[in-house]
Amino acid sequence: MEEKQNREQWGSKIGFILATAGSAVGLGNIWRFPYIAGVNGGAAFILIYIAAILLIGYPLMCTEVALGRRTQKNPVGAFASLSKGKSWRFVGGLIVLVAFFILSYYSVIGGWSLAYMTKSVIGGFKPTFNYEELFTGHISQVWEPIIWHGIFMILTIVIIESGVLNGIQKWSKILMPGLFILLLALAIRSMTLSGASEGIAFFLKPDFSKITFGTIQAAISQAFYSLSIGMGPLITYGSYLSKKDNIPDNVGWVAGADTTVAIIAGLAIFPAVFAMGYKPNAGAGLAFITLPAVFSQMAGGSFFGFIFFVLLSVAALTSAMSLLEVVVAWIIDEKGWNRRKASIGIGILVFIVGIPATLGYSVLSDVKFLGMDLLDTYDFITNNIVLPITGLFTAIFAAYIWKVEYAMEEINTPKGKITFGSFYRFLIMVIIPIAVCFIMIMNLIEKFGA
Ligand code: PHE
Repeated sequence: MEEKQNREQWGSKIGFILATAGSAVGLGNIWRFPYIAGVNGGAAFILIYIAAILLIGYPLMCTEVALGRRTQKNPVGAFASLSKGKSWRFVGGLIVLVAFFILSYYSVIGGWSLAYMTKSVIGGFKPTFNYEELFTGHISQVWEPIIWHGIFMILTIVIIESGVLNGIQKWSKILMPGLFILLLALAIRSMTLSGASEGIAFFLKPDFSKITFGTIQAAISQAFYSLSIGMGPLITYGSYLSKKDNIPDNVGWVAGADTTVAIIAGLAIFPAVFAMGYKPNAGAGLAFITLPAVFSQMAGGSFFGFIFFVLLSVAALTSAMSLLEVVVAWIIDEKGWNRRKASIGIGILVFIVGIPATLGYSVLSDVKFLGMDLLDTYDFITNNIVLPITGLFTAIFAAYIWKVEYAMEEINTPKGKITFGSFYRFLIMVIIPIAVCFIMIMNLIEKFGA
């Protein structure tokens, strides 16, 4: 009982909303969503994506937050304490493990972003550079990426070590509004370039003929990733939410903010890409090769390049914080470590496990798995294989083990503007498990099938 009273809580619902939005808004919003939307039918895809959020993402988010708040525990403790005989403990264990591994490579990318932020100041982005070589030159070094990965982890550790209120909440309150302002500034600059309309058309022009099963799969997967579902942050951050705060309303703000940022990111990126005569793409190639080249052509480009990499680093940092907190909360609750020892100890371990992912571009470049380098392998196993499994188990657990009635009771207390009822029951018991099985199978066929 004592442990429960000592558990930290968010200082306000704004604290919860900003911290959770910080987890959700990440690389997924900035370098994945805009491109996926662009190639999958623009506004038509965005409509499907919003439907995936409303019918699958948002109900699952509320379920995870409720699991955390009901039990006041980390994912392992949460699953264990609501299942008789603790037989569902392993799902929590899988979630903590997946958070650990995602963080180990997320931090490598965060490190690249910090390095580019520095490059944009020292030397700037010049039109004469070959940006492809600059990027491969950077990541194929041995020490520099490891050092930046270390610096990124140190920042993450320092914040998590300061606790829920003085670390996560305090920094989210500074970083998230800052991120939003920078993003708006970039979007305004980008959309006012001459030739911007082609980029806007690529991103938003509705094309319903592109909507297929594959598009729906892409929308659901993106919603999972972007909303941090199945990886533990929602359960963990939910465990710090006051019983006086309503879940559906607050989570609604988070889902709304995440989607808004993803859409504005598209408006910040593609108009500039097209206006400067480049081709759209996604992922590391977009952020570290195409965009620096685009900035190099733009008036004031080094300044906007700097802003972009600050933005990317902040988005990565607030997501990384939430992942480290998942593992730290587990070890504090279950193993009795203090926060300081847990943050530093786990942080160092994450750093070490991430090292092979950085070396995959240099000394370990011969190590391949299904043709993927090590970082992509970490990403594939966690996102495409483990995440749907944890998401599926979470839905089944809430529906049939914890039982929908109890989940709904937690979600609906205290009453807010949105109340969950029989529609939620139908979604969590039937639709969501089927949808998640569908994407899991599609993912596997895609990679191993043909
Ligand atoms: N939601 C993050 C993104 O969009 C990814 C992430 C998931 C980060 C889970 C942390 C935890 O980039």
